[in-house]
Amino acid sequence: MRWTKKHIISINDFSRDEIDFVLEKSGILEKKLVSSSTSSLMNGKILANLFFEPSTRTRMSFEAAMKRLGGITIGFDHPGISSEAKGETIADTVRIVSGYADVIVIRHPIEGSARLASEYSDVPIINGGDGANQHPTQTLLDLYTIKKEFKSIDGLDICIVGDLKYGRTVHSLTSALGNYDVRIRFISPRELRAPRQIVKNLSDRGIEVKETTKLNLKNSDVIYVTRIQKERFPDPQEYERVKGAFVLNLNSLEGIRENAIIMHPLPRVSEISPDIDATKHARYFEQAKNGIPVRMALLCLVCGIKFW
Ligand code: CP
Repeated sequence: MRWTKKHIISINDFSRDEIDFVLEKSGILEKKLVSSSTSSLMNGKILANLFFEPSTRTRMSFEAAMKRLGGITIGFDHPGISSEAKGETIADTVRIVSGYADVIVIRHPIEGSARLASEYSDVPIINGGDGANQHPTQTLLDLYTIKKEFKSIDGLDICIVGDLKYGRTVHSLTSALGNYDVRIRFISPRELRAPRQIVKNLSDRGIEVKETTKLNLKNSDVIYVTRIQKERFPDPQEYERVKGAFVLNLNSLEGIRENAIIMHPLPRVSEISPDIDATKHARYFEQAKNGIPVRMALLCLVCGIKFW
């Protein structure tokens, strides 16, 4: 794969070999992070963060990753302070910013916005989340977390809990898992089932998929919990009906596998009780931290910086 100037829009654009390549290279940068706090790999390079939706982890970890690589960042974290507020289009914003920066991360509520941005940019576009569609860099750090824990993704039982309809992290992650030999159990309220196309694609690839409305976490290696995406519901009453559907507490963990890990892309609202944070199963804070080496690797790769 040619990485330099590659846009990172959808995890579906990656083969298994390409995903594994990013995970391996992220490991190299994580080791470098431990041995030194900064590097000069991206000296003189500029990252533009264009965030049209709220974010803590994605925006700040890209910023931290760029700064740790010796580069600098520009951008905005709220559309109200960009010229979108005056009616500027995504296309024009990206045309302009691609003249200011070497790489752009964009988060936008509209599905397909990152793909659109890539059509108007002279520099690589990285999708930091487009509506309910995709969040490919989250998926790469999710897979990195799983691989660090279990050494291999193949052979694992993975259950995915919560809002499978609107959760873009679920859509990206499950698409990526289709490349591996895993068994997947989807747990959600009926109204928030995974899109039929995702279930079909997994089945077509020979992945065993089960769907249930019962919060049964037994027989899973990875328990991936997600927030009910309030902001994506067209009908607020529908959100009210399902918002407390699943809450993991210490009782929910009875009988789970000894080495099972609990992941969450965060932010959480109430779906994981804080009691779980101190258990040996919780991995969501480490997962968020893994965003740094993974995003460092992606920034280097798309900017043509060799670090191995
Ligand atoms: N996981 C994730 O995308 O978090 P933020 O919304 O805080 O970026």
